[in-house]
Parts: sequence; structure tokens; C-alpha cells
Amino acid sequence: MRTHYCGELSAALVDRTVTLCGWAHRRRDHGGVIFIDLRDREGLAQVVCDPDRPAAFGAAERVRNEYVLRVTGRVRRRPAGTVNPELRSGEIELLAHEVEILNPAAALPFQLDDENLSEMTRLSHRVIDLRREPMQRNLKLRYRTAMAVRDYLDAHGFIDIETPMLTRSTPEGARDYLVPSRVHPGEFFALPQSPQLFKQLLMVAGYDRYYQIVKCFRDEDLRADRQPEFTQIDIETSFLDERAIQDLMEGLIVQVFRDVLGVDLPQPFARLAYADALARYGVDKPDLRIPLELTELTDVMRTVDFKVFRQAAELANGRVAALKVSAELTRKEIDDFAPFVATYGAKGLAYIKVNDRTRIPDGLQSPIVKFLSTEVLRTVLERTRAQDGDVIFFGADKAAIVNAALGALRLKIGQDKNLVEKAWRPLWVLDFPLFEWDEEAKRWSAMHHPFTAPRDGHEELLESDPARAVAKAYDMVLNGWEIGGGSIRIHRAEVQQKAFKALGISEDEARAKFGFLLENLQYGAPPHGGIAFGLDRLVALMAGVDSIRDVIAFPKTQRAQDLLVHAPSPVDEKQLRELGIRLREKPRP
Ligand code: AMO
Ligand code: AMP
Repeated sequence: MRTHYCGELSAALVDRTVTLCGWAHRRRDHGGVIFIDLRDREGLAQVVCDPDRPAAFGAAERVRNEYVLRVTGRVRRRPAGTVNPELRSGEIELLAHEVEILNPAAALPFQLDDENLSEMTRLSHRVIDLRREPMQRNLKLRYRTAMAVRDYLDAHGFIDIETPMLTRSTPEGARDYLVPSRVHPGEFFALPQSPQLFKQLLMVAGYDRYYQIVKCFRDEDLRADRQPEFTQIDIETSFLDERAIQDLMEGLIVQVFRDVLGVDLPQPFARLAYADALARYGVDKPDLRIPLELTELTDVMRTVDFKVFRQAAELANGRVAALKVSAELTRKEIDDFAPFVATYGAKGLAYIKVNDRTRIPDGLQSPIVKFLSTEVLRTVLERTRAQDGDVIFFGADKAAIVNAALGALRLKIGQDKNLVEKAWRPLWVLDFPLFEWDEEAKRWSAMHHPFTAPRDGHEELLESDPARAVAKAYDMVLNGWEIGGGSIRIHRAEVQQKAFKALGISEDEARAKFGFLLENLQYGAPPHGGIAFGLDRLVALMAGVDSIRDVIAFPKTQRAQDLLVHAPSPVDEKQLRELGIRLREKPRP
């Protein structure tokens, strides 16, 4: 039906007759001449309809926005002064000989160039939203990223193997999406939270280097970087240690950035131990573009009179830390940070404004200097390397609260005060603990997942001192986002049994849930490990958008709904009966 894409037209085609198909993006009637900006996936072309061609002109008069058209005409240079340097086809226009309306269009629910659309509107009318240029750009970027990933992995000997969607629970720490079985009433499949166990079994089966770009399903609380249904670049290898896997995966991300964005990431990636990440940035996915760091003060505060600090410092899991900020902060800004950190559980936000650091305490403006000795204040100034004009914020509480609060404050101040460097700052976070204590359930839970191998020599700690066991796990972090995580796996059945035991999973339960894994680990399982990247997050970062919803064609809302097709939705009584399911409560109408 056509010879070219609209966005493809250029001065090279001047005097050629071409046929375009697309949507009427804008129609302008200049009394006598009608201009139509015709749009397709490659861009816009300006079509000129002249009354000299009555048939074409007549059709053009009937055209409204978003009508689907087929236009044949001659490419000509635009008159001087009307060239549009913003458009690839901006030097030329198409003088229409024929204009065919292939399909009229009803008035759209919103204008495509409206920049103030609510997400509700965009997701309810996603098809129209997807017509918009930024979305087209994002989805093409996503495709090119996936292709670059496949190119690299293929070149490195990885093969794509599909794994089931109807399976049983894989413990990645979220709730499962369940699918009832009609054939086996009362029994359920779980949708995979990841292909974790299948990829390990593929290693046992001898497939050596596996990958898959695959959907994963997790019923968890959603945020800007979390969807219930998301895509992983899932990878597993045998006979490589963690360093070799990290190097290979670093190579993957470097190549993707080079191929897709023409960006050379700084190499080698920075490497940071988990404990240092928390100590210095308060989080395990630090945004290294922000030049602010936390300073440890727990030891200094153990002996002070100020109760808030002393008590936190004396707690076994307590912490007192400072965040020094070298930026102009008004009194109001400083005061507004207190309710901000309160959302992370902080009970207050003490601060010192350094007016003259040589005069302690008179040169320090603060509600707390009166509680601290000159010596302690001097240590605080030295450790934070505070200069005149700086503000030092303090967090004192359980370490988890101090880290969350000051970590978030660091990001907020970085953004508010334009301290975020324009750069890509990738890093590896390493040396994660194997377990973390689950206060609610009163038991150990796996920090990564239960199949992660302990560091060599730490196998005994699984029984004797789980808190001290370090994992062979690694996360890749980019500009404050965890874009991937993986580990070396346990490949010996007896070590896996021990790990289950440490997690409070009895032998019977382990056999019932993971019998297939334990059995197959006995049949010659090779040492193996891997990683999974969040494709949605990777593409969102590359596209420069804040939410992964902007790089997914048909995403769910924060409340896990699809507003386009209206899912989830009630089902017929008959379907439920076939599945042997009776609802406990009548759903609200
Ligand atoms: P993990 O649970 O860390 O590891 O997931 C890997 C990566 O997937 C992305 N991700 C998500 N993206 C969008 N929405 C979500 N709800 C979501 N959850 C996770 C993140 C994360 O880094 N089987 C292991 C991997 C392995 O050990 O090889 C796993 O799934 O970018
Ligand atoms: P108070 O003596 O409770 O009025 O607190 C004195 C100062 O310490 C105030 O600026 C509070 O915001 C701050 N503060 C109180 N609790 C904490 C805490 N847990 N961490 C940091 N600062 C705190």
C-alpha cells in the first residue's frame, strides 16, 4: 500500500513520487491550501493539498485528526523559511496527487501532545497513549535492548530455553499468583516468581549456558520500579566462579549500552561490600551520582549525655550516623526534612549548622549542641570534614531505621539541590549475608533465595551461627536501581538440606516442596551460578523515565489492575463450579 515510511522522507527523494500511509496527526486549513502532518511509526511528513487537485483537496477537507490515510504525491523541497530542523523530513514536503481516507476516526479521548495526562487516563486508553512519540521511542528502545542482549549472549554461547509458566511455587520472597487446576480439583499451579529452579535443573542436565527473556510473576506491593508481571533476562552458567560470571555480565551490560545508546559505561564497575554500602549510603543499591555519604558516629555517642544518641548507640542493633551536606539550606528546608525522615520511622532529625567551625560551640547553630561536649563536637566536625556553611544531619535509632531515613534523605537532598551528577555509575554490591532475621516470623529467611551458596568455609555457619554466614551473591546496581541480582548456587544436596534447616524448613517440608531439586542435585550437579536482570528497569533507566510502566506496552496500575481490558475481573459461576471453587464472600458489586 505504500512505498516509504513518513519519517523516512528526506531531501534525497526530491522529485520522486511516493505513497505514504499513516494517521492525520494535525490538519491545518490555510484558506486555499490544506496541510496535513501524516504520522507513522517512523515519524511525521508534511502533506500539502492544493485546490488544483480537486479530488485530493476534497478528501483533505473531510480529514480530521487521527483519520487513517493513504497519500500519493511528489516530494518537493519546502520553501525557504519553512524548513523544520526538528523533523527528519523537515526539509521537504509531499505535494499530494491522491488522498484516500482508509478509515475515519472518532474524536480521541485526549490530544496526543497533551503532557499533563494522568496515569489513569493513559492506562485506560493505553492504545491511544501508545501512539504518542515518547511511548513509541521507549518500546523501540526496549526491543533494541532485548536484541543487543540476545546478540551478546548468543555470541558467548548461551542458548535460550523456555521454562514452564504453570509450575509450583518458587521462593523469591513474594506471594504467588495461583492458577486453579480443573483436572485436579482443589490443586493449584503457581506462576513462576522466576525460573530459578528450572535453570538450576538445566545445569544439572548439562546445558551449561542458559538464558531466557522471560515473564515473572510476583504478587507484591507495587511501586514505580515493580510490576506484578515483569520481565527478566534470566541467565545461568556452569563451571564459572562468581568473579567470572560478574565479568561476563558486566560485559553484557557494557555492550547493551554501547549498542543501544552509544554510551561507554565506566569500566571496571565499582565493587562495594553490602556492609559498606549500608554504612556509607544507608541502602544496598546506592546512587553513586550523589556526592554525599553517611559518617559513622555510633562509637562516639556511646558516652554522651544526650539520651537520644546514647541510647541508640548502646543498642545491639543501634546506630548513630551523620549526613553532611554542603549546600545552601534554608531553615524551612531543614525543618521540612524532619517529617520526610519520619516516614521512614525516624523519631527526629537533629542537625548542626556550621557557621564557624573554629568556634565550638558558639559557631554551631543547633538544637543539640548544648547536649554534646566540645570534644564530641570536634570529633563530629573532623569525621564529617564539615566546612563553614555545611549542615550536618543526625540519625539515631535502630540501624535499619537510621539507614533508611538518612539513605532517603541523601537521595532527596541530592535531587532537591541538583547534586546528581549527569553520569552512569554502575557498581556491584557483594558479600551479602546469607540470611536475614525475620522479626515477624521469628526465623531466618534467605537474603537472596534459599539456593544461594555460602562463601567457601562458611558451610558450617549454616548450623552454628547463621548470622555470620556470607553469601556468594551479587547485585548489579545502576544509578540507585537494582538492575540485577544473582549468586553461585548450592550444588550439593547435603548443603542444600542444611540451608533449608537453617531456614526452619523441616526435612519433610523440604522433600514435599523441593524434592525434585534435592533428588536431582544427587545426580552429578555441576558447580553453577547465574543472575537475572530486570529488563523493565534496565530499559526504564536507559529511556530516562521514572517508572517501568513507561517501558511496558500494557502494564498494571499500582493497584495491580489492567485498566484497558479491565483485569482482574469476576468469572462465571459455571467456571468456578468446574474448578471446584466456591468464593468465601460474595465479591462487592
Ligand atoms: P531477583 O528477585 O533479585 O532475583 O530478581 C532479579 C531482578 O529482577 C528485577 N525485579 C523486578 N522488576 C520489576 N518488577 C518486579 N516486581 C521485580 N522483582 C524483581 C530486579 C531484580 O534485580 N532468581 C533470581 C535471580 C538469580 O539468582 O539468578 C531472582 O529472581 O531488577
Ligand atoms: P528532643 O530532645 O527530643 O527535642 O530532640 C532534640 C533534637 O534531636 C531535635 O532536633 C530532634 O529532631 C532530634 N532527634 C530526636 N530524636 C532523634 C533521633 N532518633 N535521631 C535523630 N535526631 C533525633
